[in-house]
Amino acid sequence: MSVANTIPVSLAGRPYDVRVGPGLLARLGEECGTMLRKDSVPVVTDANVAALYRETVDAALAAVGKTASWLVLPAGEKTKDWAHLAQVIDFLLAEGVDRNDRIVALGGGVIGDLTGFAAAILKRGCGFVQVPTTLLAQVDSSVGGKTAINVPMGKNLVGAFHQPALVLADTDVLGTLPPRELRAGYAEVVKYGLIDDPAFFEWCEVNGPALLAGDDAARIEAVSRSVAAKARVVAADERETTGTRALLNLGHTFGHALEAETGYSSALLHGEAVAIGMVLAARYSVRRGLMHGQDAQRIAAHFKACDMKAEVTELALECDGRRLADHMLHDKKMDAGTLPFLLMRGIGQTFLAKDVDIADIAAFMDEELGR
Ligand code: NAD
Ligand code: GLY
Repeated sequence: MSVANTIPVSLAGRPYDVRVGPGLLARLGEECGTMLRKDSVPVVTDANVAALYRETVDAALAAVGKTASWLVLPAGEKTKDWAHLAQVIDFLLAEGVDRNDRIVALGGGVIGDLTGFAAAILKRGCGFVQVPTTLLAQVDSSVGGKTAINVPMGKNLVGAFHQPALVLADTDVLGTLPPRELRAGYAEVVKYGLIDDPAFFEWCEVNGPALLAGDDAARIEAVSRSVAAKARVVAADERETTGTRALLNLGHTFGHALEAETGYSSALLHGEAVAIGMVLAARYSVRRGLMHGQDAQRIAAHFKACDMKAEVTELALECDGRRLADHMLHDKKMDAGTLPFLLMRGIGQTFLAKDVDIADIAAFMDEELGR
């Protein structure tokens, strides 16, 4: 019997459940039930995840009379490219996958985004099940249907909205995640509190360090509350047309500039950049007189208490504020010298400001860099 929390994603015509809890991977076959029509189930994963969980998945499918057919790809962001997309598609065609079949995406956001995009375009759309194995993938990328690959011109520039049929977030698998990856994913948990849920931010302040140290109950609660928050946003604005879903990008404009400056390399993981980016968004909001300085201090103090970087000075960048602002311009459409930015009126009070002056951002970043 399942002890998972079930969070519905209420989308007209294609609703699905996200199940969160321990032991879900070992029950994969039962959890998918009649979704798995054929005896052979295609599973796409990466080499790290396969080494840890292949046997569990084989046994879970065998328990319902099925066999996993594996495609094991190299781990890492570079796998989210055209060549591996073609490899996934060729594999699925060779497996004889039809539109009513379900492809299993077992891994972090790289595997989820790549496999989800393959599912979106194969035979004009096949079903897939997200089995996210990183904290980032459990609380963010596996829910909401954004799928994509990277191309030389930029990250996530080729993709589709394609919702999964089911998401199974087994919190036990977080136990094998490298601590740095766990902390990077945790930034996205904190993000939900900062967007519109101050009580959840307070919960993070109390429980975050325990969650990161391995507290199972805290992990289940954090993933469940984060998924519920994301599910609400996605149900309200699936295709990011009304501005609600854009709130999920809190800290991302500053963060992307830091990722671009560090070459999108392992020097700075996406979640690490988002954590510093959210601190910068808070401090810039203080500079604009929108928010109390003590709120911005609280956010930075929380990341520091969790042994995470919160300051841009910790990155030892050699650039100036203008260069970081230029990276931000590359991302966005400027209107008469101003850019849209997610700012805060307080913890849990994020809003879209459309009048941010890019020269002011450059000056602010110079101050933050100590230039
Ligand atoms: P990832 O998929 O590269 O996983 C990080 C590392 O952890 C990899 O080395 C992987 O092999 C390893 N790993 C995964 N699960 C493990 C486990 N349980 N135990 C041990 N090791 C494990 O990275 P990620 O942070 O999960 O995802 C990043 C990607 O997600 C980026 O491509 C980003 O663009 C995308 N993303 C997408 C969305 C969306 O809405 N679709 C949202 C946020 C991020
Ligand atoms: N990660 C942002 C989104 O899903 O919209």
